[in-house]
Amino acid sequence: MAGQVINGKEIVATIREEIKAEVLELTAVGCEPGLVVIIVGDDPASHVYVNGKEKACAQVGIYSEVHRLPAETTQDELVSLIHVFNRDARIHGILVQSPLPAHINEDEVVDHIAPDKDVDCFHPINVGNLMIGKKTGMKPCTPAGVIQVLKRIGTEISGKHAVVVGRSNIVGKPMAMLLLQENATVSIVHSRTPDMAEITRQADILVVAVGKANLIGPEHVKPGAIVIDVGMNRTDGKLRGDVDFEAVKEISGAITPVPGCVGPMTITMLLQNTVNAARLSQNTQ
Ligand code: GUN
Repeated sequence: MAGQVINGKEIVATIREEIKAEVLELTAVGCEPGLVVIIVGDDPASHVYVNGKEKACAQVGIYSEVHRLPAETTQDELVSLIHVFNRDARIHGILVQSPLPAHINEDEVVDHIAPDKDVDCFHPINVGNLMIGKKTGMKPCTPAGVIQVLKRIGTEISGKHAVVVGRSNIVGKPMAMLLLQENATVSIVHSRTPDMAEITRQADILVVAVGKANLIGPEHVKPGAIVIDVGMNRTDGKLRGDVDFEAVKEISGAITPVPGCVGPMTITMLLQNTVNAARLSQNTQ
């Protein structure tokens, strides 16, 4: 029997309504949440993502600014702009869209974002806080979105075996940390894992974040498992995940579609982090 296709659009719409209410409440007390997005260069996909973030802010009433800088922008110029927003009381979240042009060192740039405005949760201080389980109001957007999807479809995470495919700093590693915080038993598999299928087949919850279309087929999935596909691969002009959706759908308990679930959930968590940062800024004024 085919499994449930997770209705990402409905989950996203519900959470954005909740965020909208929070924004109204904060705005009423003189603290309208504000996000700045900085993009350098002309990578077309990045511009599409940034436009999506701008639109999402408008949808929930968050004040936003987008700074579109030319590809020749120097690292010093970018860092100076970040410091301007670190000091700007109207701005509660700063996001520097990745990837940056090759002459700019992304890690060094992220180090300059004030940790309490780091809505991506990429700053080493926030990564460290995630590691020790300290609650800061800032959670990595894609992994936090995955946890929300699991909870909103009623998944009991505690005690389950969660397998994360991929070990990136943006998704794989923080995903494993958040699942561990939810008391899952967590395994991470990656390109050097000798027999990946042997481990993925043990997963009650399988999160795939590699960036390779059709990497995961039915032979990797335990019948009834919940499969979350974080992949976004553009092949033949079509957007596909890392999971062979049609085949895996037949045996999974539930599966996310690509596009239409993890992508918009990631943006939704960015909105939530901005609201959380605005709320926390009230305590420090
Ligand atoms: N590029 C692709 N995804 C992301 C993201 O979540 N944050 C940033 N800053 N850049 C990205």
